[in-house]
Amino acid sequence: MTELLAGRVAFITGASGGLGAHFARLLSRNGAAVAVSARRLERVAALAEELIAAGGRAIALRLDVADAHAIGPALDQAQAALGPVDILVNNAGMGGEGMALDLSIEDFDATFAVNVRGTYFAAREAAARMMAAKIEGRIVNIASIASHTVLPGLSAYCGSKAAVAMLTRGFAREWARQGIAVNALCPGYIETGINDFWWPTEGGQRQLKGFPRRRLMDAGDLDAAFLMLAGPAARTITGSVITIDDGQSLPGGG
Ligand SMILES: NC(=O)c1ccc[n+]([C@@H]2O[C@H](COP(=O)([O-])OP(=O)(O)OC[C@H]3O[C@@H](n4cnc5c(N)ncnc54)[C@H](OP(=O)(O)O)[C@@H]3O)[C@@H](O)[C@H]2O)c1
Repeated sequence: MTELLAGRVAFITGASGGLGAHFARLLSRNGAAVAVSARRLERVAALAEELIAAGGRAIALRLDVADAHAIGPALDQAQAALGPVDILVNNAGMGGEGMALDLSIEDFDATFAVNVRGTYFAAREAAARMMAAKIEGRIVNIASIASHTVLPGLSAYCGSKAAVAMLTRGFAREWARQGIAVNALCPGYIETGINDFWWPTEGGQRQLKGFPRRRLMDAGDLDAAFLMLAGPAARTITGSVITIDDGQSLPGGG
């Protein structure tokens, strides 16, 4: 436990597993009250119970970020339970796997609805509330090395994450005067539910051997940068898109 984020309230999307659950535990360990949201309510409810049992403050909320109209009311519920939201983590995301010639229109739309539209409207709804409460808030968007790297078979995902990186800079500019810091993290590959089907395959093993360090990352490798962007250190950091990828997006493979 640290006091870095004591008195702060965080809202995180897609907290039912993977990186979202990891960030929720990290925020809580550092003193923030945390609203954990996702579509799978039973999973975020169990996570909130875990955080409370460890001495934290938390609430679980069902939220599908593709339903833009549901985002504002979820933020209001979080505020009613925990207080005004200081930190938004736009973490919900989906893979949108498929070669461009094969990807269905529905899968393309779903990928952009979650990764781009969800990020856009969650940021907007949270920023409006931060301004109303005169909070110098923090918005951390979870982008990806896909924001700036071509990943074969993932053009829709890459396009959506490039959009997240540019939204980050646009929001940062629009809300700079109000003291809201908007930044993005671009993680390299970490084994989670979004990609665990891939690594045991021949293609997955080949890709892994092409990484300069021939390994995946751990979620904990993001902690220092994440806390910097979510905490007081981001007072003068806004519009930054920070890659933490163990060199995976460096050209030339292994
Ligand atoms: N793992 C990596 O290597 C990696 C690398 C770079 C970036 N990222 C990014 O990190 C973020 C987290 O991914 P992850 O790796 O932790 O994958 P994950 O284990 O599959 O988690 C994805 C999360 O997003 C949530 N989600 C999906 N659709 C949603 C929707 N419509 N509304 C609300 N929540 C939704 C899921 O919750 P529900 O299904 O319960 O709604 C789940 O909690 C994503 O934005 C991903 O693109 C991951």
